[in-house]
Amino acid sequence: MASAVSLVVAVLGCIVSVVIYKQWESDPERKYNLDLLQSYTYNFQQALEKRAQNMKKYSFPYNPAGVDRRTNLSLQEFQDVYDGVWPVIITDVVPTWPAYNWTISYFREKYADSNIVMSVANKSSLVVKLSWFLDNIQNVSQDSWLYLQDELFLLQHQELREQVPSTIYTNENFFDLFPVEVRPWDCYFLWGTAHSRSSLHIDPYNWTGTNAVISGLKNWKLIKPGQDLHLSIVQNRNCGFPLECKKYNSPLDLFTSSSDIDQLLDHIQFVEVDQRAGDLLIIPTGWFHQAYNVAPTLALSQQIMNTKNFKVVLEEIFKADNLPKSCLTQDVLMLSPEHLVKHVMSKLSEEILKKGAEETRKVLESNRNAKRLTRLEAVNYILNDSEDDELDLENDYSDSEMEIDSKDHLDLDKISTVNEDTRSTPVPAPGPSKESGQCPQNDSTSKFDSGWSELNTFITQPTSSNRTFTEIAGAKNMPRHIST
Ligand SMILES: *[C@@H]1O[C@H](CO)[C@@H](O)[C@H](O)[C@H]1NC(C)=O
Ligand SMILES: *[C@@H]1O[C@H](CO)[C@@H](O)[C@H](O)[C@H]1NC(C)=O
Ligand SMILES: *[C@@H]1O[C@H](CO)[C@@H](O)[C@H](O)[C@H]1NC(C)=O
Ligand SMILES: *[C@@H]1O[C@H](CO)[C@@H](O)[C@H](O)[C@H]1NC(C)=O
Ligand SMILES: *[C@@H]1O[C@H](CO)[C@@H](O)[C@H](O)[C@H]1NC(C)=O
Ligand SMILES: *[C@@H]1O[C@H](CO)[C@@H](O)[C@H](O)[C@H]1NC(C)=O
Ligand SMILES: *[C@@H]1O[C@H](CO)[C@@H](O)[C@H](O)[C@H]1NC(C)=O
Ligand SMILES: *[C@@H]1O[C@H](CO)[C@@H](O)[C@H](O)[C@H]1NC(C)=O
Repeated sequence: MASAVSLVVAVLGCIVSVVIYKQWESDPERKYNLDLLQSYTYNFQQALEKRAQNMKKYSFPYNPAGVDRRTNLSLQEFQDVYDGVWPVIITDVVPTWPAYNWTISYFREKYADSNIVMSVANKSSLVVKLSWFLDNIQNVSQDSWLYLQDELFLLQHQELREQVPSTIYTNENFFDLFPVEVRPWDCYFLWGTAHSRSSLHIDPYNWTGTNAVISGLKNWKLIKPGQDLHLSIVQNRNCGFPLECKKYNSPLDLFTSSSDIDQLLDHIQFVEVDQRAGDLLIIPTGWFHQAYNVAPTLALSQQIMNTKNFKVVLEEIFKADNLPKSCLTQDVLMLSPEHLVKHVMSKLSEEILKKGAEETRKVLESNRNAKRLTRLEAVNYILNDSEDDELDLENDYSDSEMEIDSKDHLDLDKISTVNEDTRSTPVPAPGPSKESGQCPQNDSTSKFDSGWSELNTFITQPTSSNRTFTEIAGAKNMPRHIST
C-alpha cells in the first residue's frame, strides 16, 4: 500500500516537473542565453513595447507618463506592466510590516548608543551614535543636512531586520543564490533629515531597487533609460561591494536650482513622484534616480535580481572582472535563469569569496573602532572641504573611522574660525580588482573556508565597544551606493 502511494507520488512529481519544463521550453521569449555570451545590454525599448501590449490585458487606468499608485496589485500584473520596465508605488504592503511602527522614541529607547554611519550634506561620512543624529534631526538647512545611510545596521540587529518581511513582488530573488560572502548587504537603513538627498545614480549591478518609506516624505526624480549621455556619468568607478561592480553615478544634483539643471530637466524624459509613509516604490533596472527628503524620512531599501533583470546583473558582474566570461560555455545556453545564476556563482574563485568576506569585515571593524572626537573636531571634520571630494559626493564614505560624541552638535557659525586640521588620514580608495583571467576549476574536495561563520558571529555582536581608535591597516572606505 505504502509503496503504491509513493509510486503515485513519484509519477505525479514527474508529470509536474515535465509540465513545468514544457511551459518554460515553450515560452516564446526564451532565447536561451545566447545574448549573454556576447556583450549584453538591456533592451529598454523592447520592454516598453511589451508593456504597452500587456496593459491592454487589464482595466486599470494607467498613467503612462507617471508613477501609478496601486493596491492589491497581482503578481502577474506587476510582472506584465511594471517589473523591469516602469516604476510603481505599492500602497498596501508596508503598512502591514511590524517595522511600520518604528518611531524616534523607539530608537531612542533601544538604540541610542549604537554606532551608525552618517553622511553630511555633500561631504563624506562619519560614524556617530544614533542619539547624536536624533538630537540634531531638526537642526538642518538646505545646505547642511544629515543622512544616516547604513548598509549593515539592520544585519547587525536581526530583531529589527525581522520586522521587515518579504513581499510577493520581491519573493523571487536570485541574490539569495549568491554565496553568503558575496551576497549584497540586504536592507539598507536610511534616515535623512529634511533637505537630505541621494546622488543621481543607478544601483549596483543595475539591480531593481525597492524603497519603503516608514515615516516622512520623499520626492523622486526617475530618469527613463537611454539618456546617459546627458547625465555626465562618472566613468570607471567601482561600487565597493563584497562582489565588485561598476558604479554609475552622476555628479549632478537635480534638486538644486541652477540654470544648467533647469535646462537639463527641460530636455530629458523623467518622471517625478512623491513617496509617502507606507509607500513601497519599485525602481526598475536602468533608471537613473535621485531622492530628496522633504521632511525627516525613515526608509529601507532592498534589491531584486529576478527573471526580468538577471542578465543585466550577471553582465555587470562580468564587467567588474569578478570572473571571465569564458566561464560561460555553450552548455549554459539551455539553462533556466535560476540555474544560470547558480552556474555563474559556482565559478567564482575562492579568492573572490575570501575578498568578499574580508570586505564586510573591514566595514564592520572601521565602524566599531570609531574614534570619539571632541565637538570642535567633529564640526571641523564635517565642514572641511577638500577638492578631491568633489566627485565623491556623499557616496564615498571616505573617512568612516570616527565617531562624534553624542553631546556634540553642529555649529556652523563656529567653523570659519577653525584652522587646525584634525582629520584622520583618509583611507586610500579601493584599487582595481584583480582578475585571474582564467575560469577557476570547481574543486569540490577542497576544504575552503572563507571565515564567514566567524564573521557572522562578529556581525551580530553588539556595536558599542570601548576599544580605542586604531587605524586598520588597508581598511577600506565605507561603501558605496546611495539607494534612497
Ligand atoms: C547598466 O547601466 C549603465 C548605466 O546606464 C549602462 O551603461 C549599462 O549598459 C547597463 N548594463 C546593462 C547590462 O544593461
Ligand atoms: C484583490 O484582487 C483579487 C483579484 O486579483 C480579488 O479577487 C480581490 O477581491 C481583491 N481584493 C480587494 C480587497 O480588492
Ligand atoms: C503596531 O503597533 C500597534 C500598537 O502597539 C499594534 O497593535 C500593531 O499590531 C502593530 N502593527 C504591526 C504591523 O505590527
Ligand atoms: C555642496 O553643497 C554646497 C552648499 O549647498 C554647494 O555650494 C556646493 O557646490 C556643493 N558641492 C558639490 C560638489 O556639489
Ligand atoms: C562544485 O561541484 C560540486 C559537484 O558538482 C558541487 O556540489 C559544488 O556545489 C560545487 N562547488 C561550488 C563552490 O559551487
Ligand atoms: C543647532 O545648531 C546651532 C548652531 O548651528 C546650535 O547653536 C544649536 O545649539 C543647535 N541645536 C541643538 C538642539 O543642537
Ligand atoms: C581641511 O583639510 C585640509 C587637508 O585635508 C587641510 O589642509 C586644511 O587645513 C583643513 N582645513 C580646516 C579648516 O581644517
Ligand atoms: C572594556 O575595557 C575593559 C578594560 O580594558 C575590559 O576589561 C573590558 O573587557 C572591555 N569591554 C569591552 C566590551 O571590550
